[in-house]
Amino acid sequence: MARITAGIATSHVPAIGAAIDNGKTGDEYWAPVFAGYDWTKEWIRDNTPDVVILVYNDHASAMMLDIVPTFALGFAEEFEPADEGWGARPVPTVINDTDLAGHIAEQLVIDEFDITIMNDIKVDHGLTVPLSLMFGQPSEWPCKVIPLAINVTQFPTPSGDRCWQLGAAIRDAVRSFPEDLTVQVWGTGGMSHQLQGPRAGLINPEFDNAFLDNLTSHTTALRHITRLEYLRQAGTEGIELIMWLVMRAALGKSVEELHRFYHVPASNTAVGHIVLKALD
Ligand code: DHB
Ligand code: FE
Repeated sequence: MARITAGIATSHVPAIGAAIDNGKTGDEYWAPVFAGYDWTKEWIRDNTPDVVILVYNDHASAMMLDIVPTFALGFAEEFEPADEGWGARPVPTVINDTDLAGHIAEQLVIDEFDITIMNDIKVDHGLTVPLSLMFGQPSEWPCKVIPLAINVTQFPTPSGDRCWQLGAAIRDAVRSFPEDLTVQVWGTGGMSHQLQGPRAGLINPEFDNAFLDNLTSHTTALRHITRLEYLRQAGTEGIELIMWLVMRAALGKSVEELHRFYHVPASNTAVGHIVLKALD
């Protein structure tokens, strides 16, 4: 049977991708950011899963306003990096596990999650930056990746609690897949940040650290943070944190925190990163 072994959450700032691609990770500004990922890079060398279900959002790179799916699962054989205005990032093509992706799609629909299927899509920094942070710059990614896109950019965005339910449904779907696979679920985005308007540059370390504190075993409080609270407390883009809830719910009831990192700033964002081991 397939098993969800661990979850990772991380911010997915585009400038982090640019720092990696342009050899600036040792710069004074960037070195403390990348130091927060050293532990995970070493851990994941011994704990590389067969498949990562990577929860991310597209930032109008591949999905424009013509169609805005709330939840969308990648079913293509592979996914090329998107050109976000400076050419596509020089990172490997993402290779899917279409057997598992197809199973999850079917199980989600049976579970009354009417998921959109992505058969042809390019993936932006929301998906590629976390892969670079964990795996560095290999010639190919060391595992298969199933993209799961959440709409956090256009109103109406889903609630945190709905994302939690989606994570729980993904857990059930993975655990009913007969192949013997290890699966990690990654949640991306956050932490507090606001890229536009009069409050641009907003960072709220108190909110962020409470979110990190509660993610292991006080999740009820997190499930019920409203979209308005994210907006007020964590800025317009703080809503990206609902993607961490998909990850957390997919791990089941009990988890152990293996690693945590919080740093301000990286570009306009408070960078948060956590690694959770699934105990159930
Ligand atoms: C930044 C952060 C994001 O999460 C994002 O998607 C785009 C930009 C930033 O801090 O610049
Ligand atoms: Fe983002």
